[in-house]
Amino acid sequence: MKENIAVIGCAFGDEAKARCVHWMAKDFRFVVRFGGSLNAGHTIYHDGKKIVRHMIPSADFSVGNKAFLGSGMVLDIPQLLKEVIECEKQFPGSAKNIYVDPDAFIITQEHIEEDANKNKHIGSTGKGVGPAYKDKIGRTGIRLQSLIDSGDYFIKSLQDKGVQFKSCIELCDEFDMTNGVIFEGSQAIMLDISFGTYPFVTSGETGLAGIINSGFAKYMPKRIYGIVKAYSTRVGNGPFATEIDDSEEIANYIRAQGKEYGASTGRPRRIGWLDLPSIKYAAEKAAITDLIVTKLDVLDGFNEIYVCDQYLDGYPRTSSDIINAKPFYHVMPGWKNSKSIEQTKDFRELIEQTTRIPISHISCGVNEEDIITLRD
Ligand code: IMP
Repeated sequence: MKENIAVIGCAFGDEAKARCVHWMAKDFRFVVRFGGSLNAGHTIYHDGKKIVRHMIPSADFSVGNKAFLGSGMVLDIPQLLKEVIECEKQFPGSAKNIYVDPDAFIITQEHIEEDANKNKHIGSTGKGVGPAYKDKIGRTGIRLQSLIDSGDYFIKSLQDKGVQFKSCIELCDEFDMTNGVIFEGSQAIMLDISFGTYPFVTSGETGLAGIINSGFAKYMPKRIYGIVKAYSTRVGNGPFATEIDDSEEIANYIRAQGKEYGASTGRPRRIGWLDLPSIKYAAEKAAITDLIVTKLDVLDGFNEIYVCDQYLDGYPRTSSDIINAKPFYHVMPGWKNSKSIEQTKDFRELIEQTTRIPISHISCGVNEEDIITLRD
């Protein structure tokens, strides 16, 4: 049986996880999204075309992938219908390869209004995600199951398009799982409800607990890839130790080069230098086995690059240590062309030495051929 894998963000989200998942997905049968909702904006590039998904996993339908929206998600059903229609246009026949666990919970109009009224100070995307999870935990939520045979217009429309409401147990009976599962994280560990910079976090579980709650726990991943961007970004409010606040010019340049605007909300992302102590913390919380460093090309041409490899108070042991962190920077020479791997060797070595986790791949552009495998 093929080894199942997971792809998890190690910072504040937007680490370019989706393009890695889309690239790796062709070796697997199921791409399982386990948490969050349309607060995520997952950008993939397929045959040079940019595609943004929010709830549907980054499956590659052109190679017969099946996409599973797990029980740990909260779903906005009218928006899911829109996304399925869009996906059908891009990949005709894809809807019948989309499965939704009836144990997921739904987002209602009241949840969206509550988010707008009460969660602005967090910098919430305002999609109703937090209030939907709050109701789930408070035992007043609405399970998708209760809508399935109710004649609900949106559910019926999804079914008419071919979307199937089935649990992991039914799917495992129906399909040979030899080709395994890739679990796709949304958001990231520093936004996790338990491990992140609370209360400036999302309300879902972005690491292993989320994977277990997908319903696919029987297929737990053996390798867990942690995605790390060559610099840091954060969208929304909350602590950000390595935020670049002394040079608007550098921050604006990185934002423009990296197209660092929220894929769900269009908000400009805050920009910072790579924060290795927090990556190390996230990697330990999520049991990361391999790192993938993305968007190195955005820093091509810098004479100097700053990397935080220590906090003045030592390595973080708790999320409070990250909230209160005072970064200490290692200044290193930059590179001209990240695709020439010799040029980024020192940068990669610093990441591996600090985190004690090997880098398996780097990505230096938006297309598949820009992903370089360093070790299998
Ligand atoms: P909410 O989950 O929409 O309530 O947002 C809570 C916090 O998480 C806010 O700071 C958002 O900007 C952030 N957030 C939620 N989803 C994402 C994401 O997919 N990428 C980056 N930040 C996110």
